[in-house]
Amino acid sequence: MTCVGYGKIILLGEHAVVYGYPALAAALDRGVIIAPVATPAGGPLRLELRAWGVAITAEDDHPVARSLAAIADALGAGRPPLSLIGDAQIPPAAGLGSSAAIAVAIARALLAYRQPEGAVDPAVLGHAAGASEILVHGRPSGVDVALAIAGGVGVFRRASGLLPLAGVPALRVLVGPSGAPRSTAAMVAKVAENAHDDSDERLRELGSLTDTGTSALLAKDLTGLGHAMDRAHTLLADLGVATPLLDSLCSSARKAGAYGAKLTGAGGGGAVIAIAPRDKEAAVLAAWRAAKVEGFVATIGTR
Ligand code: MEV
Repeated sequence: MTCVGYGKIILLGEHAVVYGYPALAAALDRGVIIAPVATPAGGPLRLELRAWGVAITAEDDHPVARSLAAIADALGAGRPPLSLIGDAQIPPAAGLGSSAAIAVAIARALLAYRQPEGAVDPAVLGHAAGASEILVHGRPSGVDVALAIAGGVGVFRRASGLLPLAGVPALRVLVGPSGAPRSTAAMVAKVAENAHDDSDERLRELGSLTDTGTSALLAKDLTGLGHAMDRAHTLLADLGVATPLLDSLCSSARKAGAYGAKLTGAGGGGAVIAIAPRDKEAAVLAAWRAAKVEGFVATIGTR
């Protein structure tokens, strides 16, 4: 039995979503998978995720161990004699929702151990994974966990959760993990310092770009979506979460012919995304490779 949590990209609306504005986000077709293996001879609740160099028990002094313990506690699962054996197809701390993906996969695995045939309530999963996200992020909006659970494409609002979008035309998104580490909690704190509250004009505009970008996506207006992404990057930079590397990856993508490019997720490092005409994709990826960033193409949408 394997238990999945999807990685994600935020097309529009990161940071503003913490203040109640909408975000347009999509799950990646990859993430973290975990197989729960009972250890009948007993032993601690442990997790092994070689791809990230993680091998911990729930009692260890390690950030992933604290997340594991918080998720087990939120589920009232105790510390069952269980080895959670995982694999990941996304890098950690790269702005691609890795912390939510692992949290959801862990929560699914603990629930599957308790009730192998039981239906999983997304609210229970969300609550348990959210306990870990609070440790990692401080003040998570919930968008990463919602996508890690549901997959697909949707508009997320803090007050109402994820509204899945049906019939989204398939969209190829170029993803460039910059390799620069970052802390979501630090970036959320930086925006709080710069913007103070939800009346900030930049947050408001980021929220309305989600609306225009969502309409453009549904209408397959990639030029319009690209403009919204470019403008969002400028606003995020103004809020202090871009870096010279992220700026230059976005501008090299645009120079190579992309419709638009922006940082995705918390910023301060992490990843950029771009959308480009099909015949310009190779040039965008080559421009990133020249900056030592190995990009990949993620297809989102359902038709
Ligand atoms: C992180 O993927 C997205 C942020 O908006 C934080 C959050 O929504 O919790 C930066």
